[in-house]
Amino acid sequence: MNPRIDPWGIEDIKNYKNLFDEFGIESFEKFRKSLFENRYIRRGIIFGHRDFDKIMNAIQKRESFVMMTGLMPSGKFHFGHKMVADQIIFYQGLGAEIFLCSADLEAYLVRGMDLKTSRNIAVEEYLTNYVALGLKEKNLRFWFQTDYVTPYYRLRDMLSRKVTFNELNGIYGDMAPRKIFSVITQAADILHPQLDEFGGPRPTVVPVGADQDPHLRLTRDLASRFQTEFRFILPSSTYHKFMGGLQGGKMSSSDPKSYIALTDDPKDAIKKIMNSKTGGRATVNEQRKKGGIPEGCMIYDLFLYHLIDDDRELKKIYEDCTSGKRICGECKAICAEVTVDFLRKHQERREKARDVVDGILKG
Ligand code: TRP
Ligand code: SF4
Repeated sequence: MNPRIDPWGIEDIKNYKNLFDEFGIESFEKFRKSLFENRYIRRGIIFGHRDFDKIMNAIQKRESFVMMTGLMPSGKFHFGHKMVADQIIFYQGLGAEIFLCSADLEAYLVRGMDLKTSRNIAVEEYLTNYVALGLKEKNLRFWFQTDYVTPYYRLRDMLSRKVTFNELNGIYGDMAPRKIFSVITQAADILHPQLDEFGGPRPTVVPVGADQDPHLRLTRDLASRFQTEFRFILPSSTYHKFMGGLQGGKMSSSDPKSYIALTDDPKDAIKKIMNSKTGGRATVNEQRKKGGIPEGCMIYDLFLYHLIDDDRELKKIYEDCTSGKRICGECKAICAEVTVDFLRKHQERREKARDVVDGILKG
């Protein structure tokens, strides 16, 4: 059987190299230097792409381009979600037009969530935190998949003409009507910014986790089949690694111990940090002798992905850990302190985000 990526599955993607060999995702390496001001790019957390040269070109020539992504409104907004938010804000800062959707139809069809709950989550958890993290109203369009405009729905309906059931089965396995609607809607999410009504054909980048790649393959194929009608430029994508859960395993919205939410009470956050899985040794003595192992340490991951932006400072933590100079107890205490400081400031900024969020929702 052909290998598949299941966007609705729960497995982790462990073998990133496979994605290059089997699916044709390319390494992001060559862009690392030119976009070094982004922490995720600089540190190789964004590891792969399709067709990103088009975006790099637009950035360098200051030509217009689109950043489009969708959020699954599934629960508390945590540090895992912050990665996507930071990327959206990064592209907005580079001058991209931002198209951002709440995947409430997909949540309803594939995750069994009701529309009212998911709408609330999208606003209270996602949008409000995005704005508190720095998302601006300017150059931004936000919509709900179930509540948008005619040209978008027209495109979605038209897209279904040029895809076969066998093809969908090949990409996703085990298709069902609700999944078909979800994936065609997602293709319309990604392509409609290029309709004349929304600004016409231009490069589009979709930053996602590798689990979303099947949608991008399908969407790119569809884009090429509708050349005569719409002259779509095939959308580009980037792929990031995921942070693991605090206790090892997956970071999952359904398990509050696996994540720190950006609205967590700082006291709870401290507890979660103290209970996190580290790369420490069984005894302090052993750690002094052999050093710790930052790879696979959830505390180190928090520093790496979010809390320490200065590369030299991060390098020092790494070296002090592996040489046995740094001990997990004190390291966790420092992590807790930095996290609490971040959460306090962030939660204050959330309070001030309301007006901007209302503005975004009015469109
Ligand atoms: N399927 C995505 C998820 O599960 C959400 C989504 C909907 C999306 N439309 C999109 C992502 C368009 C990227 C682009 O998270
Ligand atoms: Fe992780 Fe810090 Fe312990 Fe090293 S010292 S294993 S970085 S908690």
